[in-house]
Amino acid sequence: MRDQWNSKLGFLLAAIGSAVGLGNIWRFPYVAASNGGGAFLLPYFFAIITAGIPILIMEYTIGKTYRGGAPVALARINKKFEWLGWFQVMVAFLILVYYLAIIVWTVSYIGFSFTQAWGKDPTAFFLKYLGLSENPHTLGGIRTNLIVPFLGVWAIAAVIMLKGISKGIERACQIALPVLFVLIVILVVRGLTLPGAVDGLEYMFKPKWAALKDSSVWVAAYGQIFYSLSIAFAIMIAYSSYLPRKTDVVNSAFITATANHGFEVFAGIGVFSIMGYMAFQQGTTVEQIASSGVGLAFMTFPTAISSLPALNALFGICFFGALFTAGITSLVSISQAVVSGMQDKFELNHKKAVITVLVPAFLLSFLFITGAGLHILDIVDAFTNQIGIAVAGVIEVVLIAWFFNPEKLRKEANEFSNFKIGKWWTYSLKFITVLVLGFMSIMNIKTFLVEGYGEYAKFDITLFGWSSIAIILIGATIFTLMKGKPGYADHIPSEEVREKEAEEEVI
Ligand code: ALA
Repeated sequence: MRDQWNSKLGFLLAAIGSAVGLGNIWRFPYVAASNGGGAFLLPYFFAIITAGIPILIMEYTIGKTYRGGAPVALARINKKFEWLGWFQVMVAFLILVYYLAIIVWTVSYIGFSFTQAWGKDPTAFFLKYLGLSENPHTLGGIRTNLIVPFLGVWAIAAVIMLKGISKGIERACQIALPVLFVLIVILVVRGLTLPGAVDGLEYMFKPKWAALKDSSVWVAAYGQIFYSLSIAFAIMIAYSSYLPRKTDVVNSAFITATANHGFEVFAGIGVFSIMGYMAFQQGTTVEQIASSGVGLAFMTFPTAISSLPALNALFGICFFGALFTAGITSLVSISQAVVSGMQDKFELNHKKAVITVLVPAFLLSFLFITGAGLHILDIVDAFTNQIGIAVAGVIEVVLIAWFFNPEKLRKEANEFSNFKIGKWWTYSLKFITVLVLGFMSIMNIKTFLVEGYGEYAKFDITLFGWSSIAIILIGATIFTLMKGKPGYADHIPSEEVREKEAEEEVI
């Protein structure tokens, strides 16, 4: 028997746990800040409505109806679509290995918070902690100071994964989400009560209309939505495949999106308030403070923590504790995307599927605790997100909206939903989402081809960035061609069986 969520609430907690992740606390503030602050919010909300929610409804419906991880569910729609499922699974696999490394840093930083070990120069401290090498191809050996937290995070992930969907992931999210909520409330309240907070908030919320003309702001907004909602990289299809057919997927999608983006903006209020406070203390602008990019959490925030008037350690523990908690529940969802893919196509029981996925991921993730870890992470993150997820998203929407009958999915989604989605859903996917995502993917690929990425040399970008794309493409092709369980793609429970199931299911 395929595992199943214990209840709809259990599923929702897991889906929200997946969506709310490092992307909400670590990525959103710096993406918003580097794309005009207040100017970013309008494209951001537009992207939620035109892509985020419609795609989430689509993925929930596919998973629930075709009952498989992305490759098998898509293969059951049309055998030719299976490749896309594996493409998404490969993207998830690469994200999994570097995502874990960031969680490892948060563990160390929870420890550092007790004494504010970063001292007066958190940037130098962070670089020394990582033993950052000169360039991405100079690995500089495995960092021994990272090994204990690294093994610890892997152990936690493995235990949750081995326990399975209902006993592992669902339970973990039931514990983690309330904890995370409390931690974030503490952060926001503390942030808002600091002098200068209002400047940070003004930067976050005050629209700058001119920035709306900049297409890169729109591209960044769509990118953030995909990453943050965990869509287009196999996660939500896998999660919803463990749902009974009777589930109301439309309201589940609205609840997940509202909780995720509500949390993201709420956490953003805390982070921007603190940036406002730092700007106030250092006599500079919020823009200046916000410009530290990826290092925001590990370089800028420690400075803020040290400069607080009181309870510095507690604040640090709350901040990095929140990152850790949010990260773990997303990490397991990324792993599950790959595990479901494997288990549903090949003759593997749950335990074997988990081991088959986690062992290679474990070995590969050592790369990210070498001296070159941060460089490699930065490149792989950019390529897997801006090309991998973007392309996976556009292909998914084109295949479903143009080469399959989206009206059929709409009917399926509406069947057990209180709020019925109208034709706007089909039109939105068919035209707006396809156009915007197509544009976004082309822009991203063009930028990487013409300008490269960051300050990295061409050689390094090819070695880690383009090769990631090559690994995704090759992996997807190999797994598609491999022989699966007999009839894995043509098993769609008959109407009759499903009716019977629907009657029996209680959710
Ligand atoms: N959705 C997850 C995040 O935001 C991947 O981090």
